[in-house]
Amino acid sequence: MKIQGSIALVTGANRGLGLAFTQALLEAGAAKVYAAARDPSKVALPGATPLKLDLTDPAEVAAAARTASDVTLLVNNAAIARTVAFLAPDAETALRESLETNIFGTLAMTRAFAPVLKANGGGAIVNMLSIASWLSRPALAVYAASKSAQWALTNGTRYELREQGTLVVGVHAGFIDTDMSRQFQGPKSRPEDVVRQALAAVEQGLEEVLADERTREVKRGLSAERASYL
Ligand SMILES: NC(=O)c1ccc[n+]([C@@H]2O[C@H](COP(=O)([O-])OP(=O)(O)OC[C@H]3O[C@@H](n4cnc5c(N)ncnc54)[C@H](OP(=O)(O)O)[C@@H]3O)[C@@H](O)[C@H]2O)c1
Repeated sequence: MKIQGSIALVTGANRGLGLAFTQALLEAGAAKVYAAARDPSKVALPGATPLKLDLTDPAEVAAAARTASDVTLLVNNAAIARTVAFLAPDAETALRESLETNIFGTLAMTRAFAPVLKANGGGAIVNMLSIASWLSRPALAVYAASKSAQWALTNGTRYELREQGTLVVGVHAGFIDTDMSRQFQGPKSRPEDVVRQALAAVEQGLEEVLADERTREVKRGLSAERASYL
């Protein structure tokens, strides 16, 4: 599929990677980009079409699918990252919140937009995953659990949507320079670089993006004798 002329919806479009997706899509000639945000007044990008959407609100998800019934490319970008270890006192609450947004929110969007994409010829879904789909550390344990689950969701929906011609692209990345990684040190990708690779994958029909060398190394290490996640 071509980005030029596509009609896209980006979740969490008001800042971070979502803003970079929205900007890149407009620059690449998308005919319309719905910039979905919990507070659409924070969407300040000229040319974008603001849309109110909290992923955890079923009524707002259903309304978004009715309003944006012309979508051909869904970017499931919005997520939260609770920096909570499994043995921390608030682990259960943090995990439930993380699953509510990252898993149930992404699932709700996928289910609501599957018929829309089918009606519009198949199209594509981009799911923002993470190196944390495969790797856990105490500071990101709860987040990693939600991203592993989101990886499984991506792999499952890819099969279920293949018949209707919808491409499902999973994008794994290490740290990206946004608010989410602000408190962490270490090399960070530029949001524009991750977005460029994700949109190239959509155009080339590729199902997985490994956005940086560290992510590629961890993926390779999954089958090592001492696996990379140990
Ligand atoms: N940054 C990294 O290091 C990194 C690395 C790998 C993967 N990722 C993934 O990349 C994606 C984007 O992350 P980011 O770095 O751009 O994060 P970010 O700067 O924290 O932005 C997160 C976005 O998600 C939105 N959001 C959160 N909960 C929502 C909800 N319930 N409904 C609708 N929108 C919601 C936020 O909206 P508000 O402004 O209203 O809070 C914000 O727009 C995420 O899936 C993340 O897991 C990030």
